[in-house]
Amino acid sequence: MKQFLILIGTVAVVVGLVVSGFTLRQVHQQQASMTDDLQRRTALLADSFKEAVRQPYLANATSTLQNTLNKFAGRERFLLGLAVYDSNGELYAASAGLPQDLVSDLKIPGKAMDSDLGFGDFISVNKNKVYVYATPLRQDKNAVGAVVVYQRADYINSAIRDIWQANLMRMLVQGLLFSLAAVLILRWIIYQPVMRMAEAIRQARTGLPAGESAVYTSHGFFKPIAAEISKMSQSLILARTAASEEARLRLEKLDSPWTAERLKEFFKAYFKDRKIFVVSNREPYIHQENKNGIHAVVPPSGMVTALEPIIESCGGLWLAHGSGNADRQAVDSDDKVRVPPDDPKYTLKRIWLSEKEIKGHYAGFSNEALWPLCHLAHTRPIFRKEDWAEYRKVNGKFARALLAEIKNVQRPIVLIQDYHFALLPAMIKKSRPDADVGLFWHIPWPNAESFSICPWRKEILDGMLGADLVGFHTQQYCNNFLETVGKEIESLADLERFAITRNGHSAYIKPFPISVAFDNSRSDNDSAKPALPERFGIKTKYLGIGVDRLDYTKGILERLRGIEFFFDMHPAYRREFTFLQIAPPSREAVAKYRQFNAEVTAEAERINRKFETDGWKPVVLVKEQFSHEEIYPLYRAADVCLVTSLSDGMNLVAKEFAVARRDEAGVLVLSQFTGASRDLKDALIVNPYSAEETAEALHKALTMPEFEQHRRMKKMREAVKNYNIYRWAAEFLKALTSLG
Ligand code: F6P
Repeated sequence: MKQFLILIGTVAVVVGLVVSGFTLRQVHQQQASMTDDLQRRTALLADSFKEAVRQPYLANATSTLQNTLNKFAGRERFLLGLAVYDSNGELYAASAGLPQDLVSDLKIPGKAMDSDLGFGDFISVNKNKVYVYATPLRQDKNAVGAVVVYQRADYINSAIRDIWQANLMRMLVQGLLFSLAAVLILRWIIYQPVMRMAEAIRQARTGLPAGESAVYTSHGFFKPIAAEISKMSQSLILARTAASEEARLRLEKLDSPWTAERLKEFFKAYFKDRKIFVVSNREPYIHQENKNGIHAVVPPSGMVTALEPIIESCGGLWLAHGSGNADRQAVDSDDKVRVPPDDPKYTLKRIWLSEKEIKGHYAGFSNEALWPLCHLAHTRPIFRKEDWAEYRKVNGKFARALLAEIKNVQRPIVLIQDYHFALLPAMIKKSRPDADVGLFWHIPWPNAESFSICPWRKEILDGMLGADLVGFHTQQYCNNFLETVGKEIESLADLERFAITRNGHSAYIKPFPISVAFDNSRSDNDSAKPALPERFGIKTKYLGIGVDRLDYTKGILERLRGIEFFFDMHPAYRREFTFLQIAPPSREAVAKYRQFNAEVTAEAERINRKFETDGWKPVVLVKEQFSHEEIYPLYRAADVCLVTSLSDGMNLVAKEFAVARRDEAGVLVLSQFTGASRDLKDALIVNPYSAEETAEALHKALTMPEFEQHRRMKKMREAVKNYNIYRWAAEFLKALTSLG
């Protein structure tokens, strides 16, 4: 649109300049010719009149002179009048009706007599332009008076005005016609072919709709480009077909790594036309508005990486709470938006929650009750009746929305994510027994004794057991869950198949350790140690890193105490080692999280005050969210990464650190209370409650020989590569649909 306006503006300016140029020239010529004509006619008139008045004037026959003047004055259309001046330049006689202003104090007759020649000039009287011409009256070759002719000259100005008006009108019409023509030309000859080219390139990139040809044709200027696009498109299709065939062949080979492509092929091959529906509280894309406009932001979560390839390959639907400040502006009338925004492949349906619902469901029951209940981090859960009511209400709201979406879908696959939706599986399964419903619990499951304090434990377990498959990160959490069910409700447990049957429905309980994408294609230069951003002000030889949401389960305070103990025990490392803690604030609606944020700051400051010297501080605390692209260089700059969670379902930071270390250097210190410690056995495993153990592990990491670092890191990387996020998703789907 902007381009079209610029084009119309440019055409209008050019037409304006051209027409104005021509008009100026025409006006100039017209004015010159009309003035010349007037002057000539007036001189002739004055001469002919001069003969007629000489006699009466010289004879001083005033009444004859007056009659002659009056008679001549009526002869011409533009003639205003005539006058005779005496040798002193004083008015002698004037034709009737000549305005007084014109005849009094007139210098022109004097000038004509002085020069003894005809003399004329334009004067303005009462805003009217008049041409006054005087010619001398002679007696014996001496000028004894002057005859003066007054001609109207206004018609010259009117003619010039008419020319301007006509030309301006012409300019307007021409400007409009030229602009219209330019817009049409731009649209037909440039815009439409360019749009078709862009669409052809997009299809080449994303894959052609079924049955469409990759041949793109165009005429005129774009013909050579069209030919190139066709060739490129065909090569891409060939390459994609080859990659997809290769991925399909690899499906059966267990030793080859899982990729997004392989996951897509797996889904297409085994699930054919079945549709996937994902439900999570956090959305995969959040529309945020700031001073630069509206942007879709991807929240940092492994879940999106894992589930997108499968939902994309079947064009499924993702249901989530719309929490972005511009979310409502991005959706259609059905609260849906196609995502990813750059290349839409599936639908995100946003569910709107009121302040009361968010407070009770998300902040309250999910994060003040279930979160501390499942994480054994010694934070007491808060069970409020009103939070539980909102939790049930929101689960019901999501259930209704999902049931409406799957109404006409046969055997839908429903993947429910996390502890925000414990009641949803049973709600769905009750109305749609044909649906395959999977629930993945992304946080730990505590032992039966700990869980038994929850007042609504039976409803929660019943809700979860509505699923066909309940997934946890580790076998330990599965065992805990089975034990909890056995303790709390009447059911039949099949310990061989790990299934629980209640009211005729069986739910399978299985471990699926979530992971990260193992991306080997990063193009950044891995050999050099990346420089840290200046603003961190870190200049020491050794660097330690911690990356956690500001959550009390992450053991950040214990980690800081371990670092303090390390400096107490090994003073030689003062000014040699800095610990960088990246800690984006989280769940700030919950008081415990705000309090924890303040405690971490105070603890970092206390330790810094204790050891800081010569501009060096042992702890650099950065409370910001970093993208993957920003965090990977920091991982690679570090000598050691500290993950000291007090309780953690998996902990993906530990796995991301291994993925980032393509140089196979660096040491991971990992809490024994993370799910990741089951997969990354070559980390230095610690009990984070012991500051001594953390400090010793840190010392061991900083003094570890390179070959030892390589040996450990290589094995950790192998473990992540072998069981990456795509395999996690595939294993879950296989188990859910009884393929496994
Ligand atoms: O670990 C559970 C989890 O829900 C993750 O899936 C998520 O990345 C994290 O907690 C943060 O959750 P939120 O900010 O949505 O409360």
